[in-house]
Amino acid sequence: MSDSSLTQSVIERYASVARKGEQLCVPDGYDMEALATYIPQPVLQIANGCGVPVGLGTVRAGETVLDVGSGGGIDCFEASRLTGKDGFVIGVDMTDEMLEIARNSAAAVAVNLGYAQSNVEFRKGRAEKLPVDDQTIDLIISNCVINLAPDKQRVFQEIYRALKIGGRFTISDVVADTSIPNYLLNDQERWGACLSGAMYTRDYLRTIRATGFVGVHQVNVAPWGTIDGVHFSALTVTGYKVAAPNSFFPNEGIFSEYAVFKGPFKWVVDEYGQTFVRGLWRKIDQKTSDLLHLEPFRPWFLFSNDKVLGKMLNDDDPELLQILPADKPCEWKGNFATMTSLFERAEDDDHHQFESGVPIEICSKTDDVLATSQYAPFFYILNRAQQPVSSEAVACSPNGECC
Ligand SMILES: C[S@@+](CC[C@H](N)C(=O)[O-])C[C@H]1O[C@@H](n2cnc3c(N)ncnc32)[C@H](O)[C@@H]1O
Repeated sequence: MSDSSLTQSVIERYASVARKGEQLCVPDGYDMEALATYIPQPVLQIANGCGVPVGLGTVRAGETVLDVGSGGGIDCFEASRLTGKDGFVIGVDMTDEMLEIARNSAAAVAVNLGYAQSNVEFRKGRAEKLPVDDQTIDLIISNCVINLAPDKQRVFQEIYRALKIGGRFTISDVVADTSIPNYLLNDQERWGACLSGAMYTRDYLRTIRATGFVGVHQVNVAPWGTIDGVHFSALTVTGYKVAAPNSFFPNEGIFSEYAVFKGPFKWVVDEYGQTFVRGLWRKIDQKTSDLLHLEPFRPWFLFSNDKVLGKMLNDDDPELLQILPADKPCEWKGNFATMTSLFERAEDDDHHQFESGVPIEICSKTDDVLATSQYAPFFYILNRAQQPVSSEAVACSPNGECC
């Protein structure tokens, strides 16, 4: 199927959704009662997201926000409330029927929020060619749209282009635990239903990082459905633009300070390909310092200007986070762990090596470790068993090779 016929079928599908007031999927996490106090019913009725990219503390007062694939406008209107009247929100969609409902509701939302005039503008356009100037947006959001686009790399390049340096995105989208087989990729019906166009999580995160984004991390994740053994998830992910496209960093290689990784992993590889061993102080340049001082990294590192190069903190140092598995038998229950946050690769204290976005099978002991508050933000745990598993317990020590 060509990209243009796919896009045409998506337009027709969402035009019909808008005309009929359909809700194909009930978005999880919204307080619909609260939204109904200021957003007209026709908008809420066609909310077809897979997450809440606009919530979760993402939007800041006074910001310029752009919503890619804004549909009936639900996230734009919530963003409008959160930016306040001094902020500005742009919704972009390619389906006229969706734009009409959104535009018809903007004035009522402004009145309900007590604004003298609406701070939301809906523009017709494609995610692959956003109708905005370079580097003009603080925050880009999107809810269950990029999976519908045939060329996801192009969409992320556009998002990168539109964001200011220092800007960020928070995107909810459907991803899969493996590559989508060709017979599903050609299934127009399931593509339009936000399934077949989903990318393998590994490739999704790689595409985002290859565009230039850093600090890419999971904000939320939930199961979304299974087809023929392919597991789909609704992933909300955030990332930062810290430099202009293809720019070189003038501060690269220039010594800035010392940093040490606190854990919980034994070692990690960051998005610039540098390895940090838990407890081992190393020199970092200005570019790395800027990265590690971003909000999502800060809790996991200590910084110093003193000469601590090569010094090693003991694993029992109170500053470090080390979580060993319990010394008890492990059981295989069908659980798989996918690392989705901040690092390209990492290893825990029980020999598991994780690669960003790649599920690896874990036993009950590792499941307990990854459920701790220190590890949980980095992982999505998915059960791939089709029915409950009663596995045999395997005796193994924390340093054993069995799990
Ligand atoms: C599943 S709906 C989600 C709508 C909205 N984000 C929400 O949460 O309700 C997908 C929307 O994205 C729009 N869309 C899909 N692909 C697009 C693209 N490549 N460019 C612009 N809009 C697109 C569709 O027209 C539709 O309104």
